[in-house]
Formats: sequence, C-alpha cells, structure tokens
Amino acid sequence: MPETDVVILKALIEARTSFVSENTLAVELGISRVGVWARLEKLRQTGFVVEAVRHRGYRLIGEPPTLNEDLIKAYLELGRSSVGLIFRDEVDSTNTEAERQLADGHLIPFAVIARRQTKGRGRMGRPWHSEDDGNLYSSFGFRPQMPPAQMQMITLWMGLCICNFINLGLGLPAMVKWPNDIVSGGRKLSGILAEARVDADRTRDLIFGIGLNVNSHMETWPPDMTAVATSLASLNKNPLKINQVTAELIQTVNNAYERYISGEYKKEIFDLWTRYDALKGHVVKGSKGKEIIVGKADGIDEHGNLLLLLENGQVQKIHAGEVSIGTRPETFAS
Ligand code: BTN
Repeated sequence: MPETDVVILKALIEARTSFVSENTLAVELGISRVGVWARLEKLRQTGFVVEAVRHRGYRLIGEPPTLNEDLIKAYLELGRSSVGLIFRDEVDSTNTEAERQLADGHLIPFAVIARRQTKGRGRMGRPWHSEDDGNLYSSFGFRPQMPPAQMQMITLWMGLCICNFINLGLGLPAMVKWPNDIVSGGRKLSGILAEARVDADRTRDLIFGIGLNVNSHMETWPPDMTAVATSLASLNKNPLKINQVTAELIQTVNNAYERYISGEYKKEIFDLWTRYDALKGHVVKGSKGKEIIVGKADGIDEHGNLLLLLENGQVQKIHAGEVSIGTRPETFAS
C-alpha cells in the first residue's frame, strides 16, 4: 500500500513535533485503526522512527538515512511539486534511464532517482562513484524545444541555482567551479552531466544529471576520491535528511529550468556568479584547442565562457573543458 504510506507520512511531516491521532489517520485513509497501526509497524521496519503515545497518537522522530521513495513523494506532494518521480533501487545510470524514458514518451518534467548506479558516468567519459551509501544520483528529463544556441548557459545556471540552494536552503558553504562543479573548501561536492538530443534547429530532449554527496560514508570512498571530494554531512558535521534534501533539490532544479526557459535567468545569473565563483582571482590553467592557457580567472561572458586575464593584459575566453586551480599563483605562472 505505498500510496497509503505517502498519506501517513505527509500527515506526520505536517504535524512536525505534534502528534497525529490514530483516528485522524484512519478516517483520512478509510481504513481501521488496527490497519493504521499495522502500516506504522511496516514503516518502522523500513527505518522510520515513530513514537506512539496512548490517547495522543503518533509522531515522526526519525527518518531512514538512505533514499526512500514514499518519503520523497510525501515531501514533493507537500511542496506541490509537478515533477514526476521515477525511483529505482539500482540502475545502470540515471542519465541513461532518463534517456530511455524520454524516448518512450514519458510525461515531462520527471526526475529519475536511484539508490545506486552500476555504470554512473561523469564528464569526459569518466566513471562516477555510485555506491549505495547515502549519496544522491538524479537525472531530470525535459523537452526544451529551444534552439541549441539558446541553451549555452543552462548548465551554468542550474549549477548556480543548486549552489544557492545549498547555501541558503541548507545553510552550508558551497561555490561553483566553472563550468559546473559544486565545491566546498576546494573539494568536490557535486558533479553535473547535462546531455541533449538536438533535432535540426531545436533541442528536443535535455537530460540534466546531478550526483550530490549527501550522507555518504567517506571511509568507503576510493582513496583518490577521499583526497578531492566532500559531502554535505561532512560540512554539516551531522547527517542530513536525505529524502527532504532530495525533494527540495528536485524543486530547485525544476524551478531553475522554468526560469531558464522563460528567460528570467538573465536578470540573476551574473549576480549569482559573482557570489559563488570559486575561481575568482585564482590563477588557473585552461585549454583552448591544443593550446594551454594560464591566466587569472575574471568572470564569465554572456555565453558562459570563462574569461582569463593573461599576464600581458589580454583577455582569453575558454569555452569548454575544465580548468585547474594553481595552489599558489606562481604554480602556473611561467
Ligand atoms: C562530473 O563528471 O562531474 C559529472 C558527474 C555526474 C554524475 C551524475 S550521478 C547522476 C547522473 N547519472 C550519471 O550516470 N551521471 C550523473
């Protein structure tokens, strides 16, 4: 009875620290009080901590530490979200699943969320560590119908909106490292992989994939990752409510997408960039074709290109690829 559980969870979340009586739940669900009790027992077995007090009812005091479909749905419904949820315990890659769903004509917008990926992929063909250890693997399906030239800024914009959510919504420090890594204290917190299918002069499908380290156990990470990555839980010094974070992230991404399509993003993107630019003032090394360019990061232009101020005073635009930050200005200086 998964929908029943969503209704129970919504009532418990809405009540916050108050109790919800067994009778209220029984009436709302159209089942007996014993039926309500049985559902709550099942919820407890899946990691929910529900306090029961005679004559008062039930209240939720703990949530499962990993992703739970019903709980994400409960949070989405409470936030009046219009994003469809496709939840998988395991999938090859949420981006690939979103691609299949778009090809099958699934209603948009939707979000594919998985507890683990067997073939999680990153930018430049790199694998993306995708264990079932409290991280978030998500991909969104959209059909923008916009000319590809107008889509240039979308990943930058979406990355900035997610970064803004981490800072203002979660109260944790994060910045954007051009083009679309989200970092904190120089370590990677989140990666974005956007993929589009273009038909003649319009972008038919857009898949927007995000990997976000939430409550992952860093001791299980491969050594090369431990040195360069971090998680929200590590910044917070405590685990987060991953299902609530997931629902809020889904809302954030969908809202950001709508503001991109409507053109509203143009008013805000440069302010957000100024606030969250992790490269600002750093001497960085980027590439332009086969040429390696070293310069001081000096913001972005109206197409999302990174501007590098060279020692000779010239400004060079970097429009693709990745850049690395010098630990000291002189690292790349000669
Ligand atoms: C990067 O290289 O920084 C981008 C990483 C993107 C990883 C996410 S996890 C969810 C989605 N599914 C994938 O296979 N990749 C993206």
